[in-house]
Amino acid sequence: MSQQHEDPRTPEPSPSAHPGPGLFVVFEGGDGAGKSTQAARLAEALDAAGETVLQTREPGGTPIGEKLRSLVLDHGHGPVDPRTEALLFAAARAAHVEQVILPALASGQVVVCDRYIDSSVAYQGVGRGLGAEDVLGLNRWATQGLLPHLTVLLDVAAEDGRRRRTVRDAGGADRLEAEPDDFHTRNRRAFLDLAAADPERYLVLDAGLGVDELAASVLARVSGLRSAGAGA
Ligand code: TYD
Repeated sequence: MSQQHEDPRTPEPSPSAHPGPGLFVVFEGGDGAGKSTQAARLAEALDAAGETVLQTREPGGTPIGEKLRSLVLDHGHGPVDPRTEALLFAAARAAHVEQVILPALASGQVVVCDRYIDSSVAYQGVGRGLGAEDVLGLNRWATQGLLPHLTVLLDVAAEDGRRRRTVRDAGGADRLEAEPDDFHTRNRRAFLDLAAADPERYLVLDAGLGVDELAASVLARVSGLRSAGAGA
């Protein structure tokens, strides 16, 4: 008698509808691109405009996410193979989405997040060679299909990012930052490819522009989205 096997593949979750009136904005880019500065500038400007803003980062944003952050970024935990690395980032992201981002969006806040799924697709999928599609699938599952309304990509060349980090981080590079320039060059290409595949949901800016000029461009795009009703 032939045995009936169920198809072991789970259906791909469709991107979830955004829960409620919040707006979800993500900053992406290579190390040293200036994302944290721009995320802070956007949060300040939106706050001044009367929005309730949640500024957060990945990996991190929850107690378990901060522990995972230290496990995956700090030196001294022994070798971390690429699959383990991808799963640690995805686990931190799952907690962040479930415990922090979804509730904030449901209550109408603007969530400004430093890094999200694209960082895993670029660094683990392409940089580490795990495959962009597999890493994307893992992260779709981890995030319940939640995608940002807008991703701001601050584009920086590997050598420029390294130069900017050397000035910023007197304390030394984390495990990922310490990778050679060709790793960061692959990641940069991956970020640009993701943006090119879905231009409506991305704002790509040259990270070498002035801080004020970048902040003004980002705010203009986000304000435009809000007044066009996104997240409302
Ligand atoms: P972080 O200190 O946040 O760097 P930055 O200030 O440049 O954003 O460190 C995050 C590091 O982890 C950074 O090198 C990118 C890497 N990373 C991944 O490899 N995959 C991911 O999914 C995320 C979120 C970060």
